Amino acid sequence: MPAKPTAGAEDRAPEVRQMFNEIAPRYDRANRILSLGLDQSWRKAAIAALGKNGKGRVLDLCSGTLDLTRMLLDHGAAHVTAADFSEVMLATGAPKIREGEPVDIVCADARDLPLETASVDAIICGFGLRNVPELHKAVAECSRVLKPGGTLVVLDFFQPVGLIPRLLQSTYNRLVVPLVGGIITGFRDAYTYLNQSIDSFCSAGEFVDQLSDAGIRADHRTMFPPVAHLIAGVRSDDG
Ligand SMILES: C[S@@+](CC[C@H](N)C(=O)[O-])C[C@H]1O[C@@H](n2cnc3c(N)ncnc32)[C@H](O)[C@@H]1O
Repeated sequence: MPAKPTAGAEDRAPEVRQMFNEIAPRYDRANRILSLGLDQSWRKAAIAALGKNGKGRVLDLCSGTLDLTRMLLDHGAAHVTAADFSEVMLATGAPKIREGEPVDIVCADARDLPLETASVDAIICGFGLRNVPELHKAVAECSRVLKPGGTLVVLDFFQPVGLIPRLLQSTYNRLVVPLVGGIITGFRDAYTYLNQSIDSFCSAGEFVDQLSDAGIRADHRTMFPPVAHLIAGVRSDDG
């Protein structure tokens, strides 16, 4: 069994990495089933939110099994850097990339990216930042590597605001996700962690404020059903 990361603890990164290494081979399948097939449409909306910067040099942060990297290439991105600290997630997704495609696959921590300052036109991050301890460091890294005028798009399960979204999300995540995720992957604890990671994450509004402090002006919108949020922002010229 994988260790169950303690969401909120500062040093949980090694356990999170181990958990993703272990669920990697069945991660995509679990996603499709648990989201009732909606996860790919959320990812498509995230790609669209990149605008014209999505055709330039793009960082797919916490890229996992490269679903967003694949979509970025199909969308016409000039180059994609796929960065994730789970080598097994990256290796599991590698067959989605064809020989000669303009992709660098990099095993790296979101808090310390091996990329030049102001080197990418856009950053996309799907369901990754919730897992990163010391979120402010990952946000600072995004601000650093993004060119002025560059676009940041984050898709994630933020802490829901309002009674109905809270009830919807918490019931589904507490009852359905550990059961179904556990059956598909064999790692029930990993899917119990999902709920804890949302509980200890900020709201979308709070995240937008954090981005603003880092020089990225952003807005957020709720996806359908109202469990996932899309944040889209632009790196200011002076930030
Ligand atoms: C839920 S998966 C999302 C993967 C992919 N973006 C997607 O849309 O399916 C979260 C990913 O974030 C990665 N991750 C978590 N913490 C990280 C960190 N500190 N640095 C880099 N990657 C991290 C995990 O290894 C995992 O692959």
